[in-house]
Amino acid sequence: YRIAIFASGSGSNFQAIVDQVQKGKLDVSIELLVCDRPQAYVVERAIEAKVPVFTFVPKEYESREAYEALILKELNDRQVDLIVMAGYMRIITNVLVEPYFGRMINIHPSLLPSFPGVRAIEQAVEYGVKQTGVTVHFVDGGLDSGPIIAQRAVEIHEHETADSLAERIHAAEHVLLPQVIRWLREDRVSLDGRRVSVRS
Ligand code: GRF
Repeated sequence: YRIAIFASGSGSNFQAIVDQVQKGKLDVSIELLVCDRPQAYVVERAIEAKVPVFTFVPKEYESREAYEALILKELNDRQVDLIVMAGYMRIITNVLVEPYFGRMINIHPSLLPSFPGVRAIEQAVEYGVKQTGVTVHFVDGGLDSGPIIAQRAVEIHEHETADSLAERIHAAEHVLLPQVIRWLREDRVSLDGRRVSVRS
């Protein structure tokens, strides 16, 4: 079961997946890291983990569709079964959504549909909710809007700052994302319209 991970930043979620694979707890082959920022720390992590890397500079292409067509070729060449978006900060177009719908997931640091988009953790603190969390969902054409697979709640404590909360949010992500990948690897997830069910 071959996966590609898309990331743009530090790659702690990428690392959590790599760690699970290396511990023998996640039976997948990480075929490729796709990254839109060649200097991002996640690229270092991939080199360290001997995961092949495909980096690109978006502004060097005339459109999103143009670079996504290249990425799709890389994925097809490697017969990738699942795309995992883990902090990939680009809008995805139909070039990837079309062939991969139902085989492309994203992790988002809030309990969607609350607080979609960027700065989700800060949004939750600013709004004053008592509980936030993390969501893993299938990627559709919208922004953080695809069918939800799993969620995990994270309490917001008194006098919480976005930084202290972010640590607990990321810890929850590092558990939930590998778990959902394991369910998909075991073919236990089914999608019926917007409803997702996971067989035990
Ligand atoms: C994570 O919080 C993820 O939910 C969000 O971007 C962050 C990526 O963090 N989309 P990292 O690069 O995996 O450390």
